[in-house]
Amino acid sequence: MSKYTDYDSVSVNYDKTRKAVGIEIVLGFLASLPQPAQGLRVLDAGCGTGNYATLIQRWFPRVVCLDFSLGMLKKAKDKFEALRSQEGAFVQADMTHLPFAAGVFDAVVCNQSLHHIDEPGTDFKNQRSFFKHANRTLKPGGAVIINTITHEQLRDGVWWGDLIKPAVERMTGRFTSNEKLDEILRAAGFEITDQIVPVSTIIQQVGYFDEDALHRKEFRDGDSHFSLLTAPELQDTLERIDRMRADGQLGAYIAQRDRLRQRIGQFAYFVARKTREISS
Ligand SMILES: C[S@@+](CC[C@H](N)C(=O)[O-])C[C@H]1O[C@@H](n2cnc3c(N)ncnc32)[C@H](O)[C@@H]1O
Repeated sequence: MSKYTDYDSVSVNYDKTRKAVGIEIVLGFLASLPQPAQGLRVLDAGCGTGNYATLIQRWFPRVVCLDFSLGMLKKAKDKFEALRSQEGAFVQADMTHLPFAAGVFDAVVCNQSLHHIDEPGTDFKNQRSFFKHANRTLKPGGAVIINTITHEQLRDGVWWGDLIKPAVERMTGRFTSNEKLDEILRAAGFEITDQIVPVSTIIQQVGYFDEDALHRKEFRDGDSHFSLLTAPELQDTLERIDRMRADGQLGAYIAQRDRLRQRIGQFAYFVARKTREISS
């Protein structure tokens, strides 16, 4: 479970700013697998409110949604019910110990959840466990599709990155570098085959360019960085924004920061194939 974000309470606001960004990558990859779409079994690990799973399910009906937070999982369930979908399966569990039999899934999808499972300085032991379990539960040749944020994107992928430096520093220890992710995946029996960075997509599309975005808790609830800021640090950030706005400089600041985002993007997908079984 996430140690720094209370997702049961965040679940109330999460969908106000978050959508299934990059879903075209997930769907495109799943569609390229040789198995027929109707039979493909997909696990969405850390599914949250089901934004990805509901879209996956339209094309690949046999999707299993797993999350630790009952609040997030309930939102996902409600969405499936609203779509009158009978197919979704919902599991409350810790993704570091997947409660499924061996060799049942064709693909395991994990969007923006890996950084919640480890504490800094632990050499990502929980991510290692997750990928070991993913290896066990995948069929031979199965794939993991990972949506994460690179260290560079943590710093410069959002216009406020420089204004919340203490949180970015704390967050960086929770995200693997690309090299570390590669090492962890190899040790768990995977090989990265694709890395895709959609530079035009913004994670919190709704309200992202609003000058008062960070003043709204509803907006901040869509980005777990803000859970890592102390109250005085948040206050300081908001005051700096207020000063720039009063000086008429905020618009130019956002535009200048956004040029970096346009070059490096806000998130990255890694696709890795299971190349061997590993002993658990
Ligand atoms: C940033 S949200 C991402 C949700 C969804 N995948 C999306 O992209 O919209 C992170 C999710 O990971 C879940 N999570 C955190 N730690 C977990 C764990 N150990 N096992 C299962 N889910 C976990 C949280 O409850 C939350 O729903």
